[in-house]
Formats: sequence, C-alpha cells, structure tokens
Amino acid sequence: MCGIVGYTGKKKPINILVDGLRALEYRGYDSAGVAFWSNPSIKTVKRAGRLNNLVSALQGIEDKPGYAAIGHTRWATHGAPNDLNAHPHSDCTGNIFLVHNGIVENYKTLKEELQKAGHKFYSETDTEVISHLIEEEIKNNPLYSAKRSILNSINKLQGAFALLIMVKSEPEKLFAVRNFSPLVLGINGNDDEYIVASDPTPIARHTRQIIYMNDGDMAIISPKGYEFVDFKHNSLKKDIAQIDWDIEEAQRGGHAHFSAKEIFEQPDVIENVLRGRLIPEEGMAKLGGLETVREKLRGIKRFVITACGTAGFAAEVGEYMFEEYGGVPVEVELASEFRYRKPILDPETAVIFISQSGETADTIAALRESKEKGALTLGIVNVVGSSIARETHAGVYTHAGPEISVASYKAFTAQLTALVLYAMLLGRQRQMSMTMGKRIAEELKNIPQLMRQVLKQSDKVKEIAQKYKDFNNFLYIGRKYNYPIAYEGALKMKEVSYAHAEGYSSAEMKHGPIAMIDENFPTVAIIPKDSVYEKNFSNLQEIKARSGPIIAIATEGDEDIKYITEDVIYIPKTLEMLTPLLTIVPLQLFAYHSGVLRGRDVDRPRNLAKSVTVE
Ligand code: G6P
Repeated sequence: MCGIVGYTGKKKPINILVDGLRALEYRGYDSAGVAFWSNPSIKTVKRAGRLNNLVSALQGIEDKPGYAAIGHTRWATHGAPNDLNAHPHSDCTGNIFLVHNGIVENYKTLKEELQKAGHKFYSETDTEVISHLIEEEIKNNPLYSAKRSILNSINKLQGAFALLIMVKSEPEKLFAVRNFSPLVLGINGNDDEYIVASDPTPIARHTRQIIYMNDGDMAIISPKGYEFVDFKHNSLKKDIAQIDWDIEEAQRGGHAHFSAKEIFEQPDVIENVLRGRLIPEEGMAKLGGLETVREKLRGIKRFVITACGTAGFAAEVGEYMFEEYGGVPVEVELASEFRYRKPILDPETAVIFISQSGETADTIAALRESKEKGALTLGIVNVVGSSIARETHAGVYTHAGPEISVASYKAFTAQLTALVLYAMLLGRQRQMSMTMGKRIAEELKNIPQLMRQVLKQSDKVKEIAQKYKDFNNFLYIGRKYNYPIAYEGALKMKEVSYAHAEGYSSAEMKHGPIAMIDENFPTVAIIPKDSVYEKNFSNLQEIKARSGPIIAIATEGDEDIKYITEDVIYIPKTLEMLTPLLTIVPLQLFAYHSGVLRGRDVDRPRNLAKSVTVE
C-alpha cells in the first residue's frame, strides 16, 4: 500500500527518492510522484503506472541539493490511478506539497467547507484536502509558524494518516506526521542528512540509525537536526534504534524473482525461527519475548487468534495445534470482523495477533480493541519495531527477514513455526508430557531438511504447472491441519496467476463445489498420511468418479494415491501437526510457476498491496 519517502540533506534528492520508492515498490502501487526544489521553485512530477514512467518523466530535470524533497507510490483508494490523483498534492497557492498514506475519513465535510471558502480542487483524492486545510490555516493566522499551522490542521483530520509535508517558506524542512499509518525516520548524522520512509527498507542503504514514529507524533526535520512534538505541541524525546538486518537480504540473491528467493529460503527461515528457542532434551520451547507474561499464560483460559490474509490461514492452523497440544480452547477470527463485533474478552483471555508487516490496519484496530477490553495481547510479527510488535504486551518475532514479494511465502511458514513453539509452551504448562514435547521438538528440528527435499521437486511442479497452464479454475481441498492449507494454496494461485482457485474442506466439497467438477476442473488435493487419510481418500474417489483431474500432495510411499490421481507430489513423512509446513511448499511452487508461465508480474501482482494500512 502507499509508500512514502522524503529526504533533506546536502545531496541532490531525485535519485535518493527514486531509489527509495523502488525499495517500497513491493508494497503495491499504481502511480508514483515526487516534489523537489528545482530553480526557481518546487517542482512536482507524477505519473500513473510503474515507477519507470516517473523516471522517464524526470529525465533532464535539475534538482537542487540542500532542500527538502518528498516522493510517493500510490495505491488508489479515492480516485482513479491517474497522473492527477498521484501524490504529491498541493494547495491553491502552490506553497504546500504533501504525500499521504492512509484515508482521511472526514474529507468530504472538510472539502465542502474549503470549497465554500473559495478553494479550488483538481483531484478526486482525500489527500488534497489536507493541503488546502493547511493553506487555509496559514491564510487565517499568517503569523503562525508552519509547524503550528500544520498541527492545527491535522487536529481537524479523522482517520489514518502518515504525512510528509514541504512548505515553501521553510525550504529545508520536512514535516512528518504519523497517525495510524507507519513512518520511520533515518538519521545519517555523519552526512547531516535525514530520510523518512514508510518502513526501514529505503533507509537501510543510507544509515542504520532509525526512530520509529508513534501515532500522534510529528517530526520537524532539517539538515541541522530534528525535533519531535505531539499533536498538542508538547516536545517528545525519542530513542534511536538500529536496523539489524542486511540490505543484501532484501535483494534477489540469484533468483529470477523475489517470490522464488523467498520460497527457496524457507528452510533457512525456519532455522532462524527455531534458533535458541527449542530445548529438545526437555521437550520445551523457550520464547524470550513471552518471558514477561509466562506466569500469566498459565492462568489463560481461552485464546483468540486474529489476523488478515495469509496470516489468517496460519492462525487457523494454529487453532488445531493449540487445541490438540496446547490444551486450550481457541477461536480464530479475521481482524476485519473482530474489530466490528462486540468481542467478549476478559483478563483470562489472550488474543494473539499474527502479522508479517505488523502494520495491517485491521489487525492493529483489533489489537487496540482487545487491550481496551482488558485481554492479554500477544504478537507473532515479522517486522521488528512495527506497530503490532510495539503495542502488544509481549510477543515473538518470526525473524523471516524482509519479505519483498507481495504474496506471502516465507512469512507464512515462519508464522506456522512460531505457532508450534507457542503450542509447545502452552502444552507443557498444561497437560503435554515431556515425551510428547520431545517428539515435537525432534520432528520440528528436521523440518528445514525435509523442506529442502520438497523444494528439490520444483522442476516437477513446473511441469505440472505447464500442463494446467490454460485451466482457469481450480479446487483446493484438504482436511484437519491441511484444511487451512487448501485455502492458503488457493489464495496463492489467485494472487500470482489470477486463475480462479477455491479452497474447501475435502469433506464439505460434496455439499456444493462437487457440482463444478468435470474433466476441465482440476482439483489440488492435500492428502498426507495422517489421521484423516482414509476419509480424505474417499472424498477424492468422489472427484475421480466425476472425471475431475486430481493433483495430489501426498506422503512418500503412498502408492495407492497414484491410481486415482493424474499427478502426485510427495512430501516426506512427519508429525501430523507439522505437515502444513511441508504441504504448503509444492502449492507455493505451483502458484509461482503457474504465474510465471502465464506471464504475470509474480512479485507484484496487480491490485494487491504488501502492507494494507487502510481498512
Ligand atoms: C496483504 C498481503 C498479504 C498478507 C496480508 C496481511 O493482503 O498482500 O500477503 O497476508 O496483507 O498482512 P500482514 O502484514 O498483517 O501479515
């Protein structure tokens, strides 16, 4: 979703902004723009489509060093993705330029009031309202500083916003505002330069020193330094954090796409999630991030797990794990629904929030609601220092490294692994025996190795993808632990190949979807040798009897499956609870190869955003 970059320092800004926007491309966008000083004034260049369109439009334009500059990738919400609606936006006088991530919920009322006061609007965006609001404030109180006028204006806004503002009268300054949408300040003290961005990725190539802004913060930044205030004009003190991951990690590492890189690095990611957290000889998991709430966890009677998208399917697998091994009742709910119900929560309920980015607006809203109602809030988050990581009472980082592909692969398996660790911890606090704990720990330790074996079959999966390249409908089915995996496999297929794919329970399939089955409607069946194998097998017979082609994900050694399926991809044997960590891999590969063979932009599928920071 929208990406923001800003720079102030002694260098020429265009290249810095464009590089920064490239680093944010993975968030998803449909237009891009920049504003910078170019003699004699501030110049804005905006283009619909890919960043390269903007780069071409910038050819030959001189940018002035030493002044503030801002850039933006826009993921359209209010108004079509065209040049005019692209950010930065400006006011009637051309004195204020700003970029915005989020939604101004009261923009209609504000716009009407401003129009009555004579302001002329050129775009359909909610963002433009903010620039006219600041203009009006300056007009009515000409003696106020820009800082004060901006603060007065933002106090009139409702909704979520991260803003980066330039004002002509104070050319070196960037005004950065955060309210429910992420913003980070990078400090390059040696070079007296500052970079502001939606996340640390564009900053990491310039400096490792960053300040994570909080909701309700405004930063006023110039090459001479910075100050932080809250929306009531009070000064704030901020801690400087360090970026502790390597920029190389965010590069493609020899793969054709980030998607492939992120699928193939999953065994290493699982090792990272487990590092130092598994005590096999005691059948225990040690989660440093949960130490402060460890005793409290003993008294928790019920868990709710909430998330969005792929993280939501990880949550569903977690439900099976927690109930079977953790010995606690669990409910899973999409964060977008949770926030608008009246969830019944109390101090004996713990709510777990799963999120790759830690910035998903619905998940953050669900978190705040849970805290308000007195529940213990816990995180499973990838991005260090993100809002969810900071706002939960305690939590576990997934250490998957930066995930660039918009469709989530490695973050998912990292989330599943973290859930196994949670389940072990809860189980050992309750009824799980040490023997069972040891068994899980031993099997879990082997997962990276087993995953590598599955990944070796990538070429075979590609051949199957080639065979089904022209099919536009797929049914994905599974049961028990692999029921949510059917949904996640189907989601991957939709996201990166744009084929219609429907996830379903193998058992429920006969209550509806079976009507669609014929020789042109393939089924992807997840059928490991587990406690529901026989039932699952009967469900597949029902498809076979109706001439539906079947691609099976089955356990090595299962010869019977070959008789009722067209294609089989085998996974090694493991504990039933851990099978999702292996079965998902061929489904990720199938979606990836299908997307590439269909000529899709697999790393950045159309219409999708990596970090969904609006409702
Ligand atoms: C977007 C992404 C998905 C992701 C979901 C939740 O839709 O495209 O890949 O699963 O948001 O994001 P989160 O960062 O909270 O895991």
